[in-house]
Amino acid sequence: MSETKNTPFLEVKDLRVEYFTKEQVVHAVNGVSFTLEKGTTLGLVGETGAGKTSICKSILRILPDVGARIPSGEIRLEGQDLLKISEKEMRAVRGQKIAMIFQDPMTALNPVQRVGDQIAEVVSLHMKGTKEDFKKRAEEMLEMVNIPKQRYVEYPHQFSGGMKQRVVIAIALACNPELLLADEPTTALDVTIQAQVLKLIGELRDRLGTSMILVTHDMGIVATYCDTVAVTYAGSIVEYGTKEQIFDHPTHPYTIGLFGAIPNMNVDEEWLHAIEGLPPDPSHLPTGCAFHPRCPYATEDCAKEGFVKPVTTPDGHTCVCCHIDEVLKGEK
Ligand SMILES: Nc1ncnc2c1ncn2[C@@H]1O[C@H](COP(=O)(O)OP(=O)(O)O)[C@@H](O)[C@H]1O
Ligand SMILES: [Mg+2]
Repeated sequence: MSETKNTPFLEVKDLRVEYFTKEQVVHAVNGVSFTLEKGTTLGLVGETGAGKTSICKSILRILPDVGARIPSGEIRLEGQDLLKISEKEMRAVRGQKIAMIFQDPMTALNPVQRVGDQIAEVVSLHMKGTKEDFKKRAEEMLEMVNIPKQRYVEYPHQFSGGMKQRVVIAIALACNPELLLADEPTTALDVTIQAQVLKLIGELRDRLGTSMILVTHDMGIVATYCDTVAVTYAGSIVEYGTKEQIFDHPTHPYTIGLFGAIPNMNVDEEWLHAIEGLPPDPSHLPTGCAFHPRCPYATEDCAKEGFVKPVTTPDGHTCVCCHIDEVLKGEK
């Protein structure tokens, strides 16, 4: 039996993440499952607080040691459950197999270390060679992100925001990871720079054949860069399918609300104007479907625990809603 043939590149199953504060438990991720095939890009879409960063950090196993817990789940990379391997084995996975680009380049770079050395240091952790080899690789990486190698010796404060994020991209890609987690990689940048930086990420991904999870607010970005889409709400995936399925036949009332909203790359709050109300507090989630208090289709059943289940839509994608017949008729 050829097991590898059917093993997805990345498979996340029933992932849960909780944070503990003095007063309460934050249910940040509540049973998330998805797969990613090699060389493809999944768009993880949803508003602030939906659990997107927690999902990415779980995959890289960089949740805080204290105050965070993964009560259930599997994260299989080529069949191997990353939640089961040792910290030492995980260190080899980080950087070499999976790398992450964080939202804010300011926090990702060391202000008192030369940018070139910061890339070389990451290379040295994962590749064999001499100091000169590491430096050369770092220079190549700078040029790959369109920064002249002469700027190797400069410090982060000498770089603009867009250039800093390009250094972060160079660091992430320095060891040629198979999977890149790009967590809102351009949200902190000026609007004019955002498109450039995304284009660069897209070009490098295509050139290197990197698989990617792209976290974004922006459906326009999803349309350009993603193959599949998972719409997240209150720590759950409410709709999941190919980009074409989600764009041509959005079926979850929340997704439809997203498409009805005017996209704004900068302001989260305005993005969801079309959906009334606010997302729930993850330490006090509504019972049943977490979206029901805001949903125009909600009935009493939607608040019942275990009533709302994933269904397959007519075009074959997954939607977690018990009113898709009404939704598809566009009754509201
Ligand atoms: N270290 C933490 N301690 C307590 N709560 C946290 C921590 N990190 C994230 N959270 C909470 O978990 C929820 C999900 O956060 P996050 O994964 O960052 O969502 P997103 O990336 O979609 O904005 C939010 O309510 C957030 O406040
Ligand atoms: Mg986030």
